[in-house]
Amino acid sequence: MTLLISEATIDDAAALAECAAITFPLACPPGSLPEDIRQHIGTELSTGRFEAQIAAPGRTILCLREDGRIMGYSMVVLDQPTDTEVLAALSHSPVVELSKFYVHPDHHGRGSAATLMTATLDLAAQSGLPGIWLGVNQENARALRFYTKSGFRIVGTKRFHLGTRFEDDYTLEQALPVNARAGTAA
Ligand SMILES: CC(C)(COP(=O)(O)OP(=O)(O)OC[C@H]1O[C@@H](n2cnc3c(N)ncnc32)[C@H](O)[C@@H]1OP(=O)(O)O)[C@@H](O)C(=O)NCCC(=O)NCCS
Repeated sequence: MTLLISEATIDDAAALAECAAITFPLACPPGSLPEDIRQHIGTELSTGRFEAQIAAPGRTILCLREDGRIMGYSMVVLDQPTDTEVLAALSHSPVVELSKFYVHPDHHGRGSAATLMTATLDLAAQSGLPGIWLGVNQENARALRFYTKSGFRIVGTKRFHLGTRFEDDYTLEQALPVNARAGTAA
């Protein structure tokens, strides 16, 4: 298995949307409505949406590639949170947001997610900002365990709007190394 991690380009948008359609449902709690999940995939995770995010300043998508196929991706964002619950929970400011982190099920439990996380945290550290945060569904035990193993800790709760319902998330954060080289990440 040869894995390669590199930044997404506009040519990756359709493959990212394909990977997202497989992986996003895995992050949803059992009670989520299938039509809400479908709608979220069709709007927020479409090829066009990925094209816009790849082109947008202040955000970077990393692709986990195996033999040219995208088997996972992460997205870091330099925009600062506006959600008051998140702001109250975080101990670092300003922060990088780990906005998306998804790995194809064929790669679960194989260390691929850790490889992607290492590259993602390296990229985030290059921003020179002191911390990184994310939101994850409270029922997503596998992701919670993975994020905890990766150095994050739960600092609060927030709500995530999925279709017609609000889902309950945890807010997690971790410090980024202060001596990281400041550059042009994300
Ligand atoms: C989250 C994700 C990236 C983690 O990658 P992974 O390869 O599954 O992670 P790992 O196998 O390294 O770690 C998962 C841990 O959770 C544990 N785990 C698995 N299922 C679990 C469950 N139902 N309850 C509790 N822990 C569980 C595993 O045993 C492992 O812990 P361990 O190493 O201490 O044994 C991947 O599962 C994924 O992409 N999931 C779908 C999308 C998603 O949920 N993304 C996060 C959105 S916020």
